[in-house]
Amino acid sequence: MSTALVILAAGKGTRMNSDLPKVLHPIGQAPMLAHALRAGQSLEPERTVVVAGHEAELVQNALSDLSQDAQVVLQVEQLGTAHAVARAQDALNGFSGNVIILYGDTPFIQPETLEAMIAARASHDVVVLGFEAADPARYGRLVMEGGDLARIVEFKDASPEERDINLCNSGLICCDARVLFELVDTVDNKNASGEYYLTDIVGIARDKGLSATVVTCDESETLGINSRVELARAEVIFQSRARAALIEDGVMLMAPDTVHLALDTVIGRDAVVEPNVVFGPGVTVESGATIRAFSHLEGCHVSRGAVVGPYARLRPGTELAEDTRIGNFVEIKNATLAEGSKVNHLSYIGDARIGAFSNIGAGTITCNYDGVMKHQTEIGARVFIGSDTMLIAPVRIGDDAMTGSGSVITQDVEAGALALSRPAQVNKPGAAIKLNDILKHRKKQRDKGQS
Ligand code: UD1
Ligand code: MG
Repeated sequence: MSTALVILAAGKGTRMNSDLPKVLHPIGQAPMLAHALRAGQSLEPERTVVVAGHEAELVQNALSDLSQDAQVVLQVEQLGTAHAVARAQDALNGFSGNVIILYGDTPFIQPETLEAMIAARASHDVVVLGFEAADPARYGRLVMEGGDLARIVEFKDASPEERDINLCNSGLICCDARVLFELVDTVDNKNASGEYYLTDIVGIARDKGLSATVVTCDESETLGINSRVELARAEVIFQSRARAALIEDGVMLMAPDTVHLALDTVIGRDAVVEPNVVFGPGVTVESGATIRAFSHLEGCHVSRGAVVGPYARLRPGTELAEDTRIGNFVEIKNATLAEGSKVNHLSYIGDARIGAFSNIGAGTITCNYDGVMKHQTEIGARVFIGSDTMLIAPVRIGDDAMTGSGSVITQDVEAGALALSRPAQVNKPGAAIKLNDILKHRKKQRDKGQS
């Protein structure tokens, strides 16, 4: 049976106190929306529809980075969750199968929970995801009759007895597409909020002789984000779960609480991550690599056996082959280092390609930017770049070549050549002592004049 996702994300998120739409606030350096999307995509949905309203254009832009085939539909006025779902009908035209409704601001839903909802659909027409709330507060209450769900009542409309129910509505619903839109069509807004409640579809379904049930999950999964305080808490939860998952997968985190991960961080078995490392988006670290303390990585790939840091910065487009070495205070951007090459101290390597087993001396800089354009540096295999070499790009250094320390390299160096570009050294015997005497004499004269 095919599945489609409808992700509700039109709310303004007033309590975030922000110009950014709520669903684009990041957790694990990915928009909140990406988390819900990821859980849903594990079901390999045939279609994905995101209902956006507030700053819909920003949501659309973010979504095009996150998913090839998700479609945004507009809900201009936010008249309630049923009204929002109805906006998705045209986008699901011709689709038949289960629709799962998710919230863009509920990032911790697990794929297994969605699978359990789909499974429950085999025996019931409407499946609602519920949870036992520690503090039911203003959540919608799930009114059960026997083993079945009779209806959902919103807090504002609930009687005192109904408010005593602890089984609450997460908001997630799974239903056959055709049935869903038929039910949503009949929802009205005659309630305490004057909104079209999606939750009303349960009572309507039951009146029509359809069945409804509840699948439950842990409350922590249904956590919704409404304020920056909740966002900060969600980040803490995300980090601790992501670290635990890596440890479970065989990664050695020396001080887990100090390692900051992104939603898409991938680290292989037996890799070692020392304390205080930050992983930005788009990092993969292969099995057996070592990321040493205080390093910052984003948009890069680190191969097996490579050692990065301490105090290294890998920026987007960095590709480190096997057994490479990146040492302290080295920044690499948009550069490929072939097997066994080393940049061990105090260097900037940007827009470059370095061949296998080359050694880049301390303080070397690829001068890639002329103030207007970026240029490429090509370094061959087994090259030795002397310390403090300035490589003025565009420039090529051939295989097995060397540059003398302190050289400023403005022209290509052919394979096997030694390039030197620095003034010749002159030694003047005794001149240091003479100069020192002159300077001391001058200082004495000046001090006398001032007293
Ligand atoms: C909703 C449920 C409630 C449940 C709670 C769980 C209804 C009527 N109530 O209440 O039973 O316990 O979630 O958190 O559904 N949205 C739109 N367009 C709209 C309205 C909402 O896209 O017109 C989106 C919001 O951006 C949000 C989600 O739908 O992501 C839920 O809306 P919200 O206003 O937070 O509903 P609650 O009142 O919390
Ligand atoms: Mg809410």
